[in-house]
Amino acid sequence: MTEYTTIRTEQVDRVGVITLHRPEALNALNTQLMTEVLDAVTGYERDPGIGAILITGSEKAFAAGADIKEMQPQTYADTFAGDLFAAWDQLAQARKPTIAAVAGYALGGGCELAMLCDVLLAADTAKFGQPEIKLGVIPGIGGSQRLTRAVGKAKAMEMVLTGRLIGAEEAERAGLVSRVVPAAELLTEAHKVAATIAGMSLPIAMMAKESVNRSFETTLAEGIRFERRIFHATFATADQKEGMAAFIDKRPPEFNHS
Ligand code: CAA
Repeated sequence: MTEYTTIRTEQVDRVGVITLHRPEALNALNTQLMTEVLDAVTGYERDPGIGAILITGSEKAFAAGADIKEMQPQTYADTFAGDLFAAWDQLAQARKPTIAAVAGYALGGGCELAMLCDVLLAADTAKFGQPEIKLGVIPGIGGSQRLTRAVGKAKAMEMVLTGRLIGAEEAERAGLVSRVVPAAELLTEAHKVAATIAGMSLPIAMMAKESVNRSFETTLAEGIRFERRIFHATFATADQKEGMAAFIDKRPPEFNHS
């Protein structure tokens, strides 16, 4: 097992959990934390015993953004040559479903990290925002793009241009999060969602994820064509036979992920 210093990892049945753990910095995303999260995600992606990845933080903060102290002295040449934050694309490219469970602050890179996940569940204490403009920068892990797609232009513009934070209820109304739950129930609910997904056929869940994500990258006609082809491909799996047979036999399916 890899020794991490800025995250905690654990496996709960078929769910791979990553808990951000830099309490001294409200889980600010420094290079070490980014490297460790991506390493853990890669490990879970490779492990056939994992069917979903759950990312969470602490009660006070999911993550308060990229690490400002680490970024402050960097030059343009540093950020350009190092392609600062490009590595986070690896999380967007993860093929297994990812779930973010957010309590407290999800600001800047923290909001962007949550939006990189497939399902975003929020505690009623969650606060989302892209306050980069107050620091003299703009979002750098996809915030201006993913937030806009999630909540629309007017709200995204207001958040990105003023740095205003929104609470969990507003985030749900705007379509940023799938559901708001009481803070005390966040982890239980998030584990339930992750376990439900991980209990499905893994290849089928991966196909479903890929198909939904396609809608962000293509035209409606091409997206529908893509979906139909993948739908046809599900019939090549044993799990399609099992899933439908189980329905007809009035019993729970036993997927073997093939
Ligand atoms: N980077 C580095 N350290 C951070 C941090 C960050 N993003 N956010 C908080 N911390 C540190 C604070 O410096 C403080 O450390 P010290 O005790 O050593 O001073 C510690 O975490 C606790 O923070 P606060 O004392 O500020 O806690 P608070 O409860 O008073 O305030 C907060 C909480 C409103 C979230 C406030 O910490 C804050 O505004 N943080 C910065 C939020 C932000 O601007 N995020 C965007 C970062 S830029 C970015 O993310 C770019 C991108 O798109 C990739």
